[in-house]
Amino acid sequence: MQRAGIRPIFAAAVVALAASGSVASVRAGEATLGSAAGSADRYFGGALDPGAFDERPYRELAATQLTSVTPENAMKWGLVEPERGEFDWKGADSLVAFAEANRQKIRGHTLVWHSQLPLWLINGAFRPDEIKDLMVAHITEEVGRYKGAIYAWDVVNEPFTDDGSWRRSIFYDAMGPDYIATALKAARAADPAAKLYVNDYNVETDGPKMQALYDLVASLKRAGAPIDGVGVQSHFAAGALPKDIQSVMEKFAGLGVDVAVTELDLRIRLPADEKALVTQAGDYASVVRACRATPRCVGVTTWGITDDRSWIPSYFSGYGAALPFDAAHRAKPAVGAMIKAFTQVAP
Ligand code: XIL
Repeated sequence: MQRAGIRPIFAAAVVALAASGSVASVRAGEATLGSAAGSADRYFGGALDPGAFDERPYRELAATQLTSVTPENAMKWGLVEPERGEFDWKGADSLVAFAEANRQKIRGHTLVWHSQLPLWLINGAFRPDEIKDLMVAHITEEVGRYKGAIYAWDVVNEPFTDDGSWRRSIFYDAMGPDYIATALKAARAADPAAKLYVNDYNVETDGPKMQALYDLVASLKRAGAPIDGVGVQSHFAAGALPKDIQSVMEKFAGLGVDVAVTELDLRIRLPADEKALVTQAGDYASVVRACRATPRCVGVTTWGITDDRSWIPSYFSGYGAALPFDAAHRAKPAVGAMIKAFTQVAP
């Protein structure tokens, strides 16, 4: 379906959101993460759960603090096509409507990933040529649906393992490394205006995985494949942020692509005390400074906004408190530290 065809749906949803008070106003002069980032010509983004838009405090925080949004899960293949040929765009549409109502950019996440795939796809025993056709059709369908609405797509997510070797997936197994260029070309054809990214974690420090991603992007550029950006996810324990994150971002940018911090969170071993929160704030500010110092770093996205809606406690046992706002939606020290890092005159 083309975007023109779904515009009325968005328009209706926009009116509904506006009427329910989603377009929260910020007091004049009050700095937000989004406004601070804007003053440095960057965006500040957050991963959102459209299932929580009916909760007013969540909605208002997302509307006022963010200038970019990402669906934490709502655009993943397993969610949008749970049965072959049966699509469920509810969450994705509502994320897009929210962003349009609040004039926020959208980072689409994610088209080709080994995880959160529909069971029919994983268990379908498809031949390699069928997997290729299904992948291209999926990209064409989803990117086409939101053509013109999405600022940037994480086209390929997490292609490498920590030692820098290719990660096995149905896509890699079917096509080898060529799946990446094939996916990028399909995305470009479906929405020529969207910035196309490859995104990964543990690539924020110089090491085998970072080098593998660097070599991949360099080879895509040489081959003329449509690659516009590198996403560095940036999931770390507070206090363990790599010291060389800025030089790594500069190195990627040196390939002639944009760079974005796409999934930042800085987890703390619970219970979090004041000292840990201060350490965390320092690391959040360091990421912002690294982005500001890298001309091609376009913005920073955190993986969630409040601690009560974070993937960390369920995936990193004993950890939590990873996001800039606490469970009661109060700003943690990280918020002021990032605003300062975005706005203070560079030394
Ligand atoms: C995570 C979500 O936050 C969870 O809710 C979900 O259960 C699993 O996926 N890297 C990514 C994200 O690229 O898509 C992942 O999101 C976190 C790690």
